Amino acid sequence: EKGRFRHFMQKEIFEQPTVVAQTLGSYLRRVEQQVALPQMDFALADVRRITIVACGTSFYAGMVAKYWFEQFARVPVDLDVASEFRYRNPVLEPGGLALFISQSGETADTLAALRHSKAHGQKIAVVVNVPTSSMAREADLLLSTHAGPEIGVASTKAFTCQLAVLAAVAAHLAVVKGKMTREEEQDAVRHLLEAPAALNAALAHDADIAAMAPLIAPARDVLYLGRGPDYPLALEGALKLKEISYIHAEGYASGEMKHGPIALIDEAVPVIVLAPSGPLFEKTVSNMQEVRARGGKVVLISDAAGIAEAGEGCLATIEMPTVHPLIAPLVYAVPVQLLAYHVAVAKGTDVDQPRNLAKSVTVE
Ligand code: M6R
Repeated sequence: EKGRFRHFMQKEIFEQPTVVAQTLGSYLRRVEQQVALPQMDFALADVRRITIVACGTSFYAGMVAKYWFEQFARVPVDLDVASEFRYRNPVLEPGGLALFISQSGETADTLAALRHSKAHGQKIAVVVNVPTSSMAREADLLLSTHAGPEIGVASTKAFTCQLAVLAAVAAHLAVVKGKMTREEEQDAVRHLLEAPAALNAALAHDADIAAMAPLIAPARDVLYLGRGPDYPLALEGALKLKEISYIHAEGYASGEMKHGPIALIDEAVPVIVLAPSGPLFEKTVSNMQEVRARGGKVVLISDAAGIAEAGEGCLATIEMPTVHPLIAPLVYAVPVQLLAYHVAVAKGTDVDQPRNLAKSVTVE
């Protein structure tokens, strides 16, 4: 049931504070401020390499996880889309963990990649939203997201729940690998527990985003830029926009702009910049200036400090709460989801059932 919402996608976007809290609740011990993963028949501490495989939005969650696992736990991570991974004869060494991320748990390429990895001696972990799915049944370690049924073809709440689980796994892996102290773990848990409130604060910008959607709706092309763990969010923002509004959109690592895509920039190409303030902010600001110098129209999504510093001269700004970098990818997912949603509504497309797409891709 859609309740007070016009579309399932909209309802699911607004459910995120609740379902992320539910998901975190099953991986974090509040009192001890500690991560607790389900029992497994292998030692995470012995894992030497992690291979992450998924499709679409779930792949972008995996891409954020690569940044986290490498940064916090110092474990090398390979990352691939399932349709490439399964046919490229990847090197899978003993002691490896293969991690599959899927809302449905039934995506054909991801499932085939799982079976290939199992046959090649990998331990199998899955982050899935459907606990009765094939992937859930075939895993050594089942990490469920508790997003509840996702009806909209465009994945929203499943994505932020995947990120919540993956952040908890990253912290736990860092602890068992001796790269994170008990105090640092407590700190990470505290920040993760702040995510639901921060998601609510992000959702409070719904009306502003709806008001700016008509500025984006006429565009033929839109670029999204981000850096570090927010780069996959740029890819996710572009995917959401393409999927439901049928506007051509691309996500780029901010630093890659000058290696090609900047040639596309003119007044007709809005550039959505995802940039929480922090050590890399200045670099992104200079990328924004390059865009503006060529007549590009920038929509800056940042926190108060970022907007105070670089908001002037932008087509629009969307202010996110100031959050710890660990939860920024969850929080910054909200404005890109809402932007895609409101642009699609402005264009009058079928938001929940976009053309040519199925909710679950169970054929190759
Ligand atoms: O069920 P899965 O997470 O395995 O699905 C993967 C993709 O098909 C899915 O994320 C797709 O990209 C969405 N429609 C994106 O919104």
